[in-house]
Amino acid sequence: MNSPARLKPSRTVDEITGSRRLRRMRKADWSRRLVQENHLTVNDLIWPIFLVDGEDRREEVAAMPGVFRLSVDLAVKEAERAAKLGIPALATFPNVDLALRDRTGSEILNPDNLINRATRAIKAAVPEIGIITDAALDPFTSHGHDGILDGGIIVNDETVDQVAAAAVLQAAAGSDIIAPSDMMDGRIGAIRDALDAAGFQDVAIMSYATKFSSAFYGPYREAIGTQGLLKGDKKTYYIDHANSDEAVRETEQDLAEGADMIMVKPGLPYLDIVRRLKDEFQMPTFAYQVSGEYAMIEAASANGWLDGEKAMLESLLAFKRAGCDGILTYFAPRVAEMLKG
Ligand code: PBG
Repeated sequence: MNSPARLKPSRTVDEITGSRRLRRMRKADWSRRLVQENHLTVNDLIWPIFLVDGEDRREEVAAMPGVFRLSVDLAVKEAERAAKLGIPALATFPNVDLALRDRTGSEILNPDNLINRATRAIKAAVPEIGIITDAALDPFTSHGHDGILDGGIIVNDETVDQVAAAAVLQAAAGSDIIAPSDMMDGRIGAIRDALDAAGFQDVAIMSYATKFSSAFYGPYREAIGTQGLLKGDKKTYYIDHANSDEAVRETEQDLAEGADMIMVKPGLPYLDIVRRLKDEFQMPTFAYQVSGEYAMIEAASANGWLDGEKAMLESLLAFKRAGCDGILTYFAPRVAEMLKG
């Protein structure tokens, strides 16, 4: 064994670093604040909320403690709270009555379906908050897929027609941003055409440009009730999570078709994609910190295995560092309260 004397470096630290001392700026709270490169503010937050039929109904999602399915009247109250906190926008996701789900997701074409009723009620009570609606079929289909299922295949073009028609109904109800999460080819261009033809030139499109096939969506499927319904997986339309170049091609296509903003989903395991897309396209770029990411932090925190609040804030700041302009996060109201205080 070497003696301690022999392990002593032959050069001093100043000789090694050339007298550069990176710890200098970390020495005190004031200097750390002064050189902080990225910041999280309430303006970065989009709050996804779950909707359910009924009145005064508030059901906790088992795999997402602290997250609730809300009837429209309670969703309006939460929208009021969100607006007071300064949260810029909500994204709504419906848990549709099972009796209304069918093979083609036809309930999405009901102008008075749960999403559209919620949009109208929220816009009437809280016009200053932005509403983002998903035009995907999965909450409405009896098989939980994001498209029309025909002979075991998710048929692209028929699905696109339906998604575009649904987008127009959502815009008519007052939605500000249509965010289709289904990954069908051509959906962005078809939605843009349909919106423009119906006079909704001012309604924007946030493309779920890179939605990966992922295990992290598990708790969401419980929340909207597709968990027990979904047969097989979504690999024929979501991106393989092994791929990165494909995410660039998909985004390029969505932007060419008219997307105003792009999103990466899931979030934290895909920050390399966020950075790559931001550098490549310089477009408004968002990430979705999905249900499984929320559940992981909450579960570890509930067990005392990590400090949940710190992990939440660190993960959200990491999105900013990676290049996000904003984050869809179930933590939104909690973070907004903290940032206020
Ligand atoms: C499907 C959709 C998913 C999510 C939102 N819309 C994924 C899926 O069920 O396959 C996931 C959101 C989350 O996990 O928080 N169009």
